[in-house]
Amino acid sequence: MSKISIQAIVLAAGKSTRFNTETTKLLHKICGQEMILYPIKLLDTLKISTSLIVGCQSQKIEECVQHNTQQPKQFIKQTQQHGTGHAILCSKKIWKKDHILVINGDMPLITETILKQLIDTHIQTNTDLTFVTSHNSNPSQHYGRIIENDNSIRIVEARHFKGNSNKHCCINAGIYLFKKCFLEKTISQLAIHAESNEYYITDLVKIASEKKYTVKTINVPFDSIRGVNTMKELWAVEHIKRSDLISFWMNQGVRFNSAHTVQIDIDIAIGSETTIGCGVNIIKGTIIGKNCLIDSFATLDKVHLGNNVHIKQNSLLYNSYIGDGSQIGPFANIQENTHIEKNSIIGNFVEVRRTTIGNNTKIKHLSYIGDATIGNSVNIGAGTIICNYDGKKKQKTIIKDNVFIGSNSTLVAPITIEKGALTVEGSIITDNVPSQTLALGRARQATKKNYVEKKENEKNKKNTHSFSGAFKSDNHSISHDT
Ligand code: UD1
Ligand code: CA
Repeated sequence: MSKISIQAIVLAAGKSTRFNTETTKLLHKICGQEMILYPIKLLDTLKISTSLIVGCQSQKIEECVQHNTQQPKQFIKQTQQHGTGHAILCSKKIWKKDHILVINGDMPLITETILKQLIDTHIQTNTDLTFVTSHNSNPSQHYGRIIENDNSIRIVEARHFKGNSNKHCCINAGIYLFKKCFLEKTISQLAIHAESNEYYITDLVKIASEKKYTVKTINVPFDSIRGVNTMKELWAVEHIKRSDLISFWMNQGVRFNSAHTVQIDIDIAIGSETTIGCGVNIIKGTIIGKNCLIDSFATLDKVHLGNNVHIKQNSLLYNSYIGDGSQIGPFANIQENTHIEKNSIIGNFVEVRRTTIGNNTKIKHLSYIGDATIGNSVNIGAGTIICNYDGKKKQKTIIKDNVFIGSNSTLVAPITIEKGALTVEGSIITDNVPSQTLALGRARQATKKNYVEKKENEKNKKNTHSFSGAFKSDNHSISHDT
C-alpha cells in the first residue's frame, strides 16, 4: 500500500445538531475511546497520512487527536458548516497525493478490510471515484440512497428521497476514494441545496456519472459502516463494538457469566480461564491475568491484576496493581497507585489509597489505609484507621514485616512501626514503635466491683424519696385549693 500515492481527509467539522449535547458527538466515547479516534487510528495503522476538517469545537478535537495518536496530523478549518461538499472544498490546498480518501468522522465501526478493499478496487480498476455502499431498507435511517440506472448513478440524500426505501435499499456509507485530478476538475461544480444551505459531497457521484467519469462501488455489511447522528445510534454502535470485544475475549478463553451486562472497553487484556461476573466494568487500560475471578458489579479502571486474583462483589479499583493470588472486597475501594503484592487479602469496607502492601498481608475489615508502606505478613485488625492528613500535608506511615495492628487502632502519621511489633486494640498510636515491642495507646480498663448492685440500690432509694415528696406536694396543693 505504501507505493500508492494516497492521503486521507476525515470530515470532523459538523455541528452534531441531532445529538443534542453540548459536546460534539465526535468526542463522545464508544467503549472508552472518543468516536473521532476510530477512523484516525485505522488510517494510522494503514500508514496513510491524514488530515482533518475541523470547525465546531475544533480545538478540543485537535487536542484529542494530537494526544492520542502518534503520526502528526494536519487540521484544516471549515469556519462555517456548509455541508460535506463544502468541507472537502476547504481542504483543496492540501490535496497533494494522486488519490484522496475521504471518510466521515462519525463512523466508528469501519474496518481495515473495508478500506483495503476500497483502495484495491479503486487502484486495480483505475477508477475516478470509488465509494462504499451498504444495504438498509429502513426509511427512518437517514442515509443517502443510491439510485442507479443502466448508465447513471447518483446519491439522493434522505431528506430529498421520496421513493420506496425497500426498492432503493442500497445506501451511501460515507467513504469515498477520488482521483485527485477528478476532484480538482469537479469540486467547483457542486451547487448549494437551498433547503439545507449545504453543499453535498455526494453530488460528486452524479457529476461523475453525467460527465462520464468512471464510478465504482464496493458493498459491505451495514454493521461495519453505521453512522452516529443520534444518542440512539451511538448506543447501537457501542453495543456492536462491545459485543465484538466480548466475542474476542471469549475466543481467548475468558468466561462471561452475564455477557450482556458487562461494560468492556478497547485496550484491555484478560487472561484465559478468568471469569467475569454480572455488571462488571472493565475500563480502558486494565490488564487482568489468568484464572482470575471478578465478581459482580466490580469496576476495574486502569488496574493491573496478576494471576489467580479474586475481586469480590462491588469493589472499585482505580490505577492500581494487585499481585498473584490476592483477594479484594467485597465493597473494597482501592485507589491511586496502590500496589498490593501476592496472596494478600483486603476485605470488606476497606479503603486503600497510594499505598504499597507486601505479600500475605491481611486487612480484612472496615479500615482506611492511606499513604502507607506495609510489609509482608502484616495483620491489620478490623476498624484500623491511618490518620494520614495533618490538615496541610499527606503524611507517610511505614508498617514493617510481621507487624500486628490490633483492631480499632488509630495510627497517626508520620509514623513507623518496626518489624514484629504489636499495637493493642483500640490504641491511638502517635509515636514510632520499635521492633518486637508492644505499643499501648489507650487508658487502662477500670473494673468497679459490685458497681451495678450499688447503682440499683441508689436508684431505688431515690425513687422512694421522690414518690413520697410528690405525694406531699399533692396533698399540699389539695389543701391549698380547698
Ligand atoms: C452523510 C452523507 C450520506 C451518507 C451518510 C453516511 C452527505 C451530504 N450525506 O450524511 O449520503 O449516507 O453520511 O453516514 O454527505 N461535516 C463537516 N462539515 C459540514 C458538515 C458535516 O465536516 O459542514 C462532517 C460531520 O462532522 C460528519 C460528516 O461530515 O463527521 C458527515 O456529516 P453528517 O451531517 O453526519 O452527514 P449525514 O447526514 O450523516
Ligand atoms: Ca452522519
